[in-house]
Amino acid sequence: MAEAFICDAIRGYRRPRPETQPPYLFPFYASTVKRAPTKPLVLLPHTLTEVTGPLFGTDEVRPGDSDLTLGHKGQPIGERIIVGGRVLDENGRPVPHTLIEIWQANAAGRYLHKVDTHDAPTDPNFTGCGRALTDAEGRYRFVTVRPGAYPWLNHPNAWRPAHIHFSLFGPALCTRLVTQMYFPGDPLLPLDPMFTSVPDEAARNRLIAALDWQATVPQVAIGYRFDIVLRGREQTLLEKPS
Ligand SMILES: [Fe+2]
Repeated sequence: MAEAFICDAIRGYRRPRPETQPPYLFPFYASTVKRAPTKPLVLLPHTLTEVTGPLFGTDEVRPGDSDLTLGHKGQPIGERIIVGGRVLDENGRPVPHTLIEIWQANAAGRYLHKVDTHDAPTDPNFTGCGRALTDAEGRYRFVTVRPGAYPWLNHPNAWRPAHIHFSLFGPALCTRLVTQMYFPGDPLLPLDPMFTSVPDEAARNRLIAALDWQATVPQVAIGYRFDIVLRGREQTLLEKPS
């Protein structure tokens, strides 16, 4: 009985709205052909396992972790940028103290990874990984360099637009989000099967950061704003009158 009571009290998270997420199978993005499920998915109800998640204390993320230009002997090559914004849920509420991890290629379009054999230089002063916790209002801020475009083998003469990978946990395991941030005006965007796999145009454009003049630091770095919306609860609890 106790277990049934807990399950009844659990409010799940909304399922993604149609067209806002890329389909599992998108043949122009060749890897999806291999990994897309071939059988219909089984929809499972949310239980305590899905609506809770890992918590990260401030002592596990150091302030310097959000500045990818630090931590090496010298300065990385490339255009300095600041990427910041807010993490909100679908109800517009900030998601505080949640972990954001990013990873990216260097300014030449090369990852510091053994399987990246792209003929472009690595940078001894750039690792390309960072992390931060959002503050009480859901804000975050990274300092990094603008990543370069890089070729891949999806189709002949395929190039990924410049992008930064993002991973967010949010308050629950089913709010976990792995996505990519793109730059405004990139001419490679309409040719990119990952970007174009999102059917809904408005959802697709939410993947593009906006130039943020307020965050731009004169003589130092251009700012970009990238707000991220995680799933909200299925039901909004009504506040009790006091
Ligand atoms: Fe990438």
